Amino acid sequence: MCELKVSATQDTTLVEDLEITLLLSALEQRWGYDFRDYARESVKRRIRAAMIRHGAAHVSELIPRMLYDGEFCLDIVQGFSVPVTEMFRDPEVWKALRDHVFPMLRTWPYFKIWHAGCATGEEVYSLAILLFEAGLLERATLYATDFNETVLQQAREGVFDIKHTQVASRNYFQAGGLHSLNAYYHAQDHLVQVNSTLRKAVVWANHNLVADSVFGEMNLILCRNVLIYFSQALQNRTLELLTSSLSPGGYLCLGTKETLDFTSVGHCYELIAPTERIYRCVHGEMIDTPDSGTFTINPPPLTA
Ligand SMILES: C[S@@+](CC[C@H](N)C(=O)[O-])C[C@H]1O[C@@H](n2cnc3c(N)ncnc32)[C@H](O)[C@@H]1O
Repeated sequence: MCELKVSATQDTTLVEDLEITLLLSALEQRWGYDFRDYARESVKRRIRAAMIRHGAAHVSELIPRMLYDGEFCLDIVQGFSVPVTEMFRDPEVWKALRDHVFPMLRTWPYFKIWHAGCATGEEVYSLAILLFEAGLLERATLYATDFNETVLQQAREGVFDIKHTQVASRNYFQAGGLHSLNAYYHAQDHLVQVNSTLRKAVVWANHNLVADSVFGEMNLILCRNVLIYFSQALQNRTLELLTSSLSPGGYLCLGTKETLDFTSVGHCYELIAPTERIYRCVHGEMIDTPDSGTFTINPPPLTA
């Protein structure tokens, strides 16, 4: 009989890896949410956090509940979301958008902007405010998408904790804001709500960058701090989808730690603002992705 030679530690790691593969596969097959190509270390951290929340000793204990219980699955799925965001996060990026991209937007009678992976919407409202101050908001159609229905609902309502407004205000001025940020909120108790003009300027929609397809022809796409959670292969697939959703000459803004270097679409772009990671699509032709032309609908959003 063959003698088992793996050490206990190796064994545990291998088994945990296998359990994670099984869990991700079950999640995809049962509910249509596909995290199999997310960066493995990040996935491990999220699953371990879920184990602590649910008192599970092993990853595989999560699988049966996830298969039968939609609310439990929602918790697991939302655990993968990491909706960390901030108003005017990285102020220099917003300033660069004003300086390098707004002049081009100004030449178009109408334009479309897509925030892919918008989380609770702070980034979307930041841009809406700057467009308003530049007299461009009326020409803009703003789309904001995420796969996490809970954060999308919060984004739609535009309600935030008042404790974040101080940092937001500082970022806003660094981004080149012209007024007082308070002009764009109503405060009530410990909360603030973004003015209805800004809320109504945005079309919020559930869209999954992994499962869904091209999202119209945009003049500017912001997909910031989303690709960092993806494997290289998934980054390429997502970037191809984003490139197919951009009009020729359109702009792509990534997170400051994200890059098009060594990706499958790098040759389609010129770098407009190196530190702020703003690119302009100079390749006239759309990238032909396997899903081009079809808009696959998300699995029905899970609601708690
Ligand atoms: C760290 S937040 C970034 C929010 C915002 N873009 C920013 O930079 O402040 C990442 C967001 O990407 C979303 N996300 C992750 N995977 C996604 C996918 N496959 N499709 C759509 N959104 C996704 C998450 O739900 C989360 O809200």
